[in-house]
Amino acid sequence: MTQKKPWNERWLERLPADSLLMRLLLESFQEHRWKYMAASAAMLLVAASTALSAWMMGEIIDTLSTPEDRMRVFMVGAGVALIFAFKGAAFYVQAVLMARAGNRIVAQKQMQLYSRLLQQGVAFFNTNESSDLLLKITQSAQAARRVIDTIVTGFIRDLFTLVGLVAVMFYQQPFLSLISLIVGPAALYGLQKILRRVREVMAQEMAGLGEIIKVVQETSTGARVVKAFGLEPRMSGRMDVAVRQVESRANKMVRLEAATMPLLDVITGLAIASIVILSAVNIFGQAPGTPGQLMSFVTAFLMAYEPAKRLSRMRVIIESGMVGVKMMYDLLDAPQTLLEAENAVPLQAGPGAVQMEDVRFSYNGNESVLNGVSVAFPAGKTTALVGPSGGGKSTLLNLVLRLYDPTDGKVLIDGQDIKMASFTSLRDKIAFVGQDTFLFSATVMENLRLARPDATEEEVIEAAKIAHAHEFIDKLPGGYETQIGENGSFLSGGQRQRLSIARAVLRRAPILLLDEATSALDSHSEVLVRDALARITQGVTTIVIAHRLSTVMNADCICYLEAGEILEQGSVQELLALNGKFKALHDVQFGGGTSAAE
Ligand SMILES: Nc1ncnc2c1ncn2[C@@H]1O[C@H](COP(=O)(O)OP(=O)(O)O)[C@@H](O)[C@H]1O
Ligand SMILES: [Mg+2]
Repeated sequence: MTQKKPWNERWLERLPADSLLMRLLLESFQEHRWKYMAASAAMLLVAASTALSAWMMGEIIDTLSTPEDRMRVFMVGAGVALIFAFKGAAFYVQAVLMARAGNRIVAQKQMQLYSRLLQQGVAFFNTNESSDLLLKITQSAQAARRVIDTIVTGFIRDLFTLVGLVAVMFYQQPFLSLISLIVGPAALYGLQKILRRVREVMAQEMAGLGEIIKVVQETSTGARVVKAFGLEPRMSGRMDVAVRQVESRANKMVRLEAATMPLLDVITGLAIASIVILSAVNIFGQAPGTPGQLMSFVTAFLMAYEPAKRLSRMRVIIESGMVGVKMMYDLLDAPQTLLEAENAVPLQAGPGAVQMEDVRFSYNGNESVLNGVSVAFPAGKTTALVGPSGGGKSTLLNLVLRLYDPTDGKVLIDGQDIKMASFTSLRDKIAFVGQDTFLFSATVMENLRLARPDATEEEVIEAAKIAHAHEFIDKLPGGYETQIGENGSFLSGGQRQRLSIARAVLRRAPILLLDEATSALDSHSEVLVRDALARITQGVTTIVIAHRLSTVMNADCICYLEAGEILEQGSVQELLALNGKFKALHDVQFGGGTSAAE
């Protein structure tokens, strides 16, 4: 029994890939089946009591014509009260149950979407814009819920209500019912054509909404650039276009949707008129029936209007909701760009030697960024990566961090392929300081502590002191408890970089990666930080990228990387003696002569 897959999974496997609707329904019903079953039962009661109330109308009319039958009057009166009370209670129960199941589904889907997002590698975020993701996560789960609600309410409550009412109609006036059954579906058919347009317009509207979010987001994060380059008119132009697009699409959408309702109104009016006339004319010698029967029929017919209208619009709502559902499943099914190996093992403790074996890499699959790099970064030593911009230095660090996997070749830490290592053990080994420091909206203390959640306050302050960050943190209005706004916009580049270095200090990892870690510092703080870095790189495998050669002259080893290949490798003295690329770079930076060689 335990090996056998549950029915829903077996079903899911058999579904064609594009049956998103079936998939959504199966997933949701399986998980919330009790709620949906109870809600469905309540809906059946709603349908039954609605039909009964239409039938009662006839009883009321006929009873009123025989008021002397007191017993019947009381029975009918009590019956009406009971039926309406019953209907109200059943309606309440199904509404609450549906809402609860729906809210649960939205919550679950949003969590699923987000955890899926967290599992994606950096490459995924290079190609998916944040505003798009924002929209998908917030809107698509709601759309899924709307689709489920519409289907359950439509197929159970509305459909059975309609069936019940039609049954009452036939019971009271079979001939008139036949005629109305021909008119009704013809009207519904007229609506089908509108549906296709709605689907298209809805997809466009979502896209327009994405553009609005993008513009606002870029204005906020890029506020300085916008101001500095006077980009306000251009941004406002972009916004204008997007807003107008959404507006005109929303109008189009409303026009399409709104057209369905008057259409039904007209048809209903015509239908009632014909009923009145037909019942008086008495065609084919049909007896017109009692006034009660006619009243009951007309009531049932009118009551059928609402569920029939909703059923006819059901497809519009489902079609538009499916746009969101597709978005949701696209995101949930997006191939994972970087996965932990299935049988991942923690990295064995070691001195922290990093090695690359014939590593090839490309971001987009055709332009090669690293062309067979083989290099060893000895444990406990500092190796400097130098070379022209765009040569692949940062990319090499990305591969050591396993933000991407090499297309070919291996990255090893202490002889173990990092592809087979568990993510946590790999991340624990490495500290990284980059050009830009991302700060979360939390306090300075919390931002620093990210590097090591169990660090004590003293340890954090100690690390900040080593990184020469303590001085300026102390001067902030709230010290270490100062809230950092959206990505720390009130801190200078150098201050943020020092926070980043403090994080690395706190991390105490055996491997330290520095990518232009001192580039944003003024020369005074650079001297201080370089001194700090010299201290923390003691006995730590360090790979440092720096444009200023002054930063790398103390390195134990230099690698010259150009166009994805390592052209020169050795100690500073060896490379200067080689009189090659590094020497040329050195001469440019130190003014030609031999003066700075030592
Ligand atoms: N996320 C990315 N997606 C696509 N191409 C990239 C990405 N990052 C860098 N590149 C490209 O890879 C090459 C190497 O970049 P990079 O490693 O940053 O060089 P360096 O750090 O030596 O200046 C460049 O041609 C750059 O355009
Ligand atoms: Mg770089």
